[in-house]
Amino acid sequence: MAKIATSRVDKLLSSMGYGSRNDVARLARAGGITLDDVDLLDVTKRISVTPDLPTRMEIDGEALDPVAGMVVLLNKPLGMTCSHKEHGAVVYDILPARWKRRNPALSTIGRLDKQTSGLLLLTDDGDLLHRVISPKRHVKKVYRAKLARPLQGTEGDLFASGHLMLEGEDKPLAPAELQVISGTEARLSVTEGRYHQVRRMFAAIGNHVLELHRERLGGLCLPDAMAPGAWKLLGEKEIASIFQ
Ligand code: URA
Repeated sequence: MAKIATSRVDKLLSSMGYGSRNDVARLARAGGITLDDVDLLDVTKRISVTPDLPTRMEIDGEALDPVAGMVVLLNKPLGMTCSHKEHGAVVYDILPARWKRRNPALSTIGRLDKQTSGLLLLTDDGDLLHRVISPKRHVKKVYRAKLARPLQGTEGDLFASGHLMLEGEDKPLAPAELQVISGTEARLSVTEGRYHQVRRMFAAIGNHVLELHRERLGGLCLPDAMAPGAWKLLGEKEIASIFQ
């Protein structure tokens, strides 16, 4: 049976971004922390850190944030970057501010360009992150692309060939699948995650991507009803579907 982790309340809440251990102690003294509807005053108490803890613990009257092992599905809007290193708005700005202070930190699973929208996952689970981006797993990423110039009809065979070489690289791309939607729109499924891969694939054949949107990652689809900037936590089944 899997071992259940335990933690001191002050250490746990501090690692979840609720403030320093002193902040957490102050909050508890003010009656701001309850466990099973009872005020929790002693923040040195050790508790079991189970996934259902947010249903049992409240902070200032709100359910506790998800404990470590969380996966967030975000419909990334255009104009935001996935990297803290770049200037301007980052996708983390969309999520609750205290999540930026979580330890282990929340990271994007792979990246989408600033001008790419759609399905983006974030997690604090390093093992999961590596399993999703590992080339050995062949997790399919499906993009919808709007192109500047009409498709010629030869792109599908070239992308599927496993011989297409991107500029500046010395290893051909793994076979990818192209589905034509209209004269200037296509759906492209790739299993790798090379830098600007989709834009560079179309550039390699003399076209140019005007709009790019990720619809799917493995067996996980971006729900139609999810507006740009909307996000939700994923459950176990949805996480497993990534690998199906
Ligand atoms: N390929 C790209 O060119 N950009 C992305 O954001 C994702 C895949």
